[in-house]
Amino acid sequence: MSKKVLVTGGAGFIGSAFINHLLDNFQCQVLCVDKLTYAGRKENIKHNIDFLEKDICDVTSDELGDFDYIVHFAAESHVDRSITEPLEFIKTNVLGTATLLQVAKEAWKHDFEGKLFYHVSTDEVYGSLGEEGFFTEETAYDPHSPYSASKASSDHFVRAFADTYGLPTVISNCSNNYGSYQFPEKLIPLFIKNIVNNKPLPVYGKGENVRDWLFVNDHARAIDVIFHKGKLGDTYNIGGFNEWKNIDLIKVMIKTVDRLLGREEGTSDKLITYVTDRAGHDLRYAIDSSKLKGELGWEPSLQFEEGIEKTVAWYLDNSEWLESITSGAYKVYYAKNYNNK
Ligand code: NAD
Ligand code: TYD
Repeated sequence: MSKKVLVTGGAGFIGSAFINHLLDNFQCQVLCVDKLTYAGRKENIKHNIDFLEKDICDVTSDELGDFDYIVHFAAESHVDRSITEPLEFIKTNVLGTATLLQVAKEAWKHDFEGKLFYHVSTDEVYGSLGEEGFFTEETAYDPHSPYSASKASSDHFVRAFADTYGLPTVISNCSNNYGSYQFPEKLIPLFIKNIVNNKPLPVYGKGENVRDWLFVNDHARAIDVIFHKGKLGDTYNIGGFNEWKNIDLIKVMIKTVDRLLGREEGTSDKLITYVTDRAGHDLRYAIDSSKLKGELGWEPSLQFEEGIEKTVAWYLDNSEWLESITSGAYKVYYAKNYNNK
């Protein structure tokens, strides 16, 4: 009988890329548990799978049936929203993760042979870097936003369940992802959408913050490698060695969108609008993923120039997806809180 994988948050940006990758490459049974918040779309998943529409804070072991593995993506994921709605983040990211850990412990009845709880986390738990250096797996946690604090807390609960009950766990902390099906509240899809619609591009502060960008399918591949070959109880950093200052990245996006739309190059430069900086804005993230490369042989496969071209082209070709995902409940929230976008 094939193994059963429970994937939480599988209707979101990275979770759906992972399910699609998993079922393109392996035979297994997938049950996705997802609340379908503004960020989740069932249609992001290309395969026929079992689906339980439910809040992870409310799941019980009875309703999940037997399962062998959990890959846990479900989270509130946007830093700006965490600044306006911190309690939502604590609920889903902390209480939700702790609930799943407890459910796994109960469902597996303390017989952990062949089981795995894979927790998907972020490099933001490490805080902010200065001009130099990288986050390694040994970097001390120093989160600043309610989002990163809630993810840091969830990581600690995962380790606590491993240390206390012997739950078989693994954690990966990844840098910023980009690619198709990302909700247009994050920098790259929001700015592509605004360039297309000739709307202002709200650059926080001076645009000098640095992020390390990784194509979402490379993240899905890294999770697959760690899921299959990672050492129990270990942590792996995932990153692209691909740092960009926001303003430089924004200029690449403007150039690419203008070119693909047949506009004269630089037409959309005028949309750049410097706005008040994000509160507690981390200056720089940069991941050292050499452990993952050295121990498990993973490397990013896509050059950034190719990845951003593919991504822009995908959003231009999928304007209906963009329209539909921003036409629901989020629109009301968005209009209330982000009038300048
Ligand atoms: P996303 O916001 O696109 O998707 C989140 C998914 O979780 C959605 O399908 C949503 O419906 C679901 N969800 C939210 N709250 C839920 C709840 N209470 N119960 C059940 N389902 C719920 O997020 P993403 O960008 O795909 O991120 C996935 C994971 O990867 C998160 O844990 C995030 O912290 C982590 N991560 C993201 C990035 C990034 O750049 N986006 C980088 C590193 C790590
Ligand atoms: P974001 O995509 O929200 O990811 P994160 O905050 O998790 O890194 O933002 C990426 C960078 O872009 C971050 O430095 C904040 C900046 N940013 C803007 O300047 N303007 C925007 O409208 C957004 C959404 C982000």
